[in-house]
Formats: sequence, C-alpha cells, structure tokens
Amino acid sequence: MAERDLFKEIISHCKEYGFIFPSSEIYDGLSAVYDYGQNGVELKNNIREYWWRSMTQLHENIVGIDAAIFMHPTTWKASGHVDAFNDPLIDNKDSKKRYRADTLIEDYVAKLESKIDKEVEKAKKKFGESFDESLYRTTNPRCVETQRKVDEVNARMKRALEQNDMAEMKQIIVDCEIVDPVSGTRNWTDVRQFNLMFATQLGAVSEEAGTIFLRPETAQGIFVNFLNVQKTGRMKIPFGIAQTGKAFRNEIVARQFIFRMREFEQMEMQFFIKPGTEEGWYQQWKETRMQWHKRLGFPETMYRFHDHLKLAHYAKAACDIEFQFPFGFKELEGIHSRGDFDLGNHEQYSGKKLQYFDPESGESYVPYVIETSIGLDRMFLAMISASYTVEKVPTSVEGEEATRVVLKIPALLAPVKVAVLPLVAKDGLPEKAKEIFNRMKFVCRCFYEEKDTIGRRYRRQDAIGTPYALTIDHQTLQDNTVTIRYRDTMKQERISVERVEAIVKEKLDWKNLLA
Ligand code: GAP
Repeated sequence: MAERDLFKEIISHCKEYGFIFPSSEIYDGLSAVYDYGQNGVELKNNIREYWWRSMTQLHENIVGIDAAIFMHPTTWKASGHVDAFNDPLIDNKDSKKRYRADTLIEDYVAKLESKIDKEVEKAKKKFGESFDESLYRTTNPRCVETQRKVDEVNARMKRALEQNDMAEMKQIIVDCEIVDPVSGTRNWTDVRQFNLMFATQLGAVSEEAGTIFLRPETAQGIFVNFLNVQKTGRMKIPFGIAQTGKAFRNEIVARQFIFRMREFEQMEMQFFIKPGTEEGWYQQWKETRMQWHKRLGFPETMYRFHDHLKLAHYAKAACDIEFQFPFGFKELEGIHSRGDFDLGNHEQYSGKKLQYFDPESGESYVPYVIETSIGLDRMFLAMISASYTVEKVPTSVEGEEATRVVLKIPALLAPVKVAVLPLVAKDGLPEKAKEIFNRMKFVCRCFYEEKDTIGRRYRRQDAIGTPYALTIDHQTLQDNTVTIRYRDTMKQERISVERVEAIVKEKLDWKNLLA
C-alpha cells in the first residue's frame, strides 16, 4: 500500500471509529485543532497513565504536579520564549504556501541521505556476504560526494540558525535549488522569524501590561515550582518533577493530522541534578525513555535516535527519539540537557533564590536539568500507526477470504478491554451475558453488544482494538463456560465463567508493561 494512502486510511479510521474528530466540524473545523472521541479519549488516557505510572510509580525520586496553563508573563521573558521561540518562515509566491525554512532544508538533506542509502543497498545486493558497508560509504565516490554535500548544508544551516542569519537561510534554499513541493517553483520570499506563542488579555486590562501567553510548553510550570516541591516534598537531588497538560503553539506549518497541532498535550519530566553530572544522566534518560517505547512491543526498527543540529535556545545537548510514522521518521520525543538555563534565568528575573542546599557537601547551587518531553497526541498517532493492520482472514465459505482491519494496541492501553457478546439476542443469552458484563465492569472497561451477527461484532471490536471478546452461547447456559476470542490471533478458547476474571486480570496487570 502506498504510504500516502496508509496515512489517509488511518485518519479516516480514527474518525469512523470515534477516535478523533476535527474540532468544531459542523463549522468546517479549525486548522490543526482536533477533538478526541469516545474511543480516542480512552486510549489517550491510557497512554498518559502508562507514562505517569512509569515516571512517578517506578521512580521513588520523581513526583508529579499539575500547574496552571496561565503563568505570570515574566515567566516567558525568563524562559527565552518571548525573544527566541521563533520559527524561520518562508512563503512560495506562486502556491502562496508557507513553510518552515529549516524544514525545507532538512527535507532536502533527508533526500540526499536516502540517495546514499539506496546506493548502499544496491551494492549490498551486488557484493553479498563480502560487502563492507562502512568501507563502501567512506570510499565510493558517489556516496562520498553526496555525504560531503549533506555535511556542508547541515553546517551552513546550523551556523545560520545560531547567528539568527535569515538571509543565509534563504541563500541555502536558493543554492540547493529547493523547489516548492506544491507549485514546483523557486519563487521564494525572504525568510522571516515568527513567534509561536498565543497571546491573550488577563481580566479587563487591555494594555500591554495585561498580555499573558498560553503556555507553549508545560516545563516552565515545573521550573517555577522547583523549590515548592523540593522543600515540601523534602526531595534530595537527584530528583524529578513530572507533569502532563495542554500546551499551545501557533505553528506555521500545521499539517499531518495530530502530528503538529496548535493545541496539544505534553508529558514532561524535569530531572534536577548536580552540575557536572549531566552527561551521565543525559545518557541514562535517553536509554530509559527508549526502553519505555520498546516495551510496547512494536518493531524496534521503528525507533531511532536523532541528535539535534539546531539546539533550542535553552539546550546544551539534545536528541529526539524518532518514530517511523506513515510519512517517515519524525520526532516523537525530545531529551534535552538544559543546564541551569531555566532556573538561573528565573532567579535573575524574579530576584528569588532558586538554589538547592546540599546537606552532605554543605554547598548551595542552582541544579542542572535533564528534560524528557513527549507529545501525548504524537504518541497517540505513533500508537495508532504502529497498531493499524489490514489482514486477510478466512471466511465460513471454504477458500474465500475477507479483509479485517485490526488495531493491535497493547491490551492494557486499548480503549475497551473486554467485549461481552451474546451469540443471539434471545433464549436467555442476553441475560447471562449481562450478568457477566456486570461482574467484569468492575475489573476493566467492558462493552456489551447484542445486535448484528457475531462476525460483524468481532470486526467492530477488532477495529477499535479490543483485545478480548467473550461470547455467550447456548452451551454457556448448560455448563457455565464462555468462548474467549483473542483479537490478534483470532484464536478461541472455551473457559469457565469462574476463570474469566482471573485470566483477564492477569493479562491486564500493569506489571506486564512496567516491569
Ligand atoms: N519543553 C521542551 C519542549 O517543549 P519540544 O521539542 O518543543 O520541547 C516536545 O516539544 C514534544 O512535544 C515533541 O517531541 C512533540 O512530541 C511534542 N510537540 C511539540 N510541538 C507539537 C505540536 N505542535 N503538536 C503536537 N505535538 C507537539
């Protein structure tokens, strides 16, 4: 299936099965804003819970908070967002489309890199066993020349962004002969900086003094509460503060469904450490976060690290965990070594000491910070993309096959865990099924349905990722057994009603994901 089609299919699947709707759709929607439907909200809550538990339950030195979205406006001066939270934007005069200049250049570089990869793949096939990939990459003239271009463009962009040199950003686009993917022309405007924060007015004050911002990251709510939590929780360094919540960015290019939204949710953790220990902790958190992703059981090849070329204004070192979305490898999570940038600046702007007194050494210092930051909506998209499967399955007619769409979501995170389905809506089967439903609803989120053929009902549960279906038939009334059907294998087993609760509980134990 073509990649483009797969992504479109996923988007329409999300709408059709109550996962995601365009915001205020009856008014034709609002660009890059989405609502979560009845199944979407369950999956989103479950992903959040997986993150929250792994941060605050598994680490005795990490606690959570829930800070307000509105913050004192000086927060954003101190954090650097007023001055530096900009994206370089460029317009194509023919298509009238707007792009991030750095993204256009990054896409160009990615194309060069995939040219090298194709060259290597071809050679691998040709030379077979004896092929030495790293030797080939460093000696084949075409690979060497393309890599030289990649390095040169990357270095130029890094310099231009660091020096805030927008004329040079435009020159790179011109020199690389980058064309607008829509109009196919090189008729570009100059590159301009654009601040991404949404502003609004506080109370009745309409002058500039009343202007506040919708937070563009949740992290600052953690920084300004650093001492409150440290003192009241008697936390000793190293320790972390975790938070999930909404963030807002006036994204220039807001495409690709819930990948880049203007209102989204973040799950962030700031880990406060002693200065000088940042390299070790940075590596450790990279590893820990990658493990968290891999525990979900999707192919490991779908994840990779990508070191940042362009460091955010607060970062000393930064990398992304990239995920293979239907439109290619893209950032899913960021891990940043922020030094004392934030606490140091808040000290300066607030005039309040934000230091930690180390009882062992007797010294006070402004801690350094390692941050892990993941978008909940982006994680949702990763989960749906990785679990969306279209399969051929046998039908009751011999030799005939049908197609089923199944979301192979890890059982614990699925919106509905157990579907309770009487085979037919008569002969006392609904009553027996309701009895089982009423018992199971205290164990996990269940769904009861009696309309339609059993095959159709299974398909609908597959499509929302329900891992277990219990079918109640006439035999149930005789021997108190039900059929449990497993979503991924479609295997069915007869088990006694008495055992259902224990079996499901065992499969839905958080230990399965967290341990
Ligand atoms: N506090 C650091 C910070 O906000 P970031 O790399 O700008 O870092 C962190 O954002 C994560 O938030 C990203 O890796 C991504 O998953 C998510 N994110 C950022 N902008 C987003 C947007 N417009 N829509 C959806 N998710 C977004």
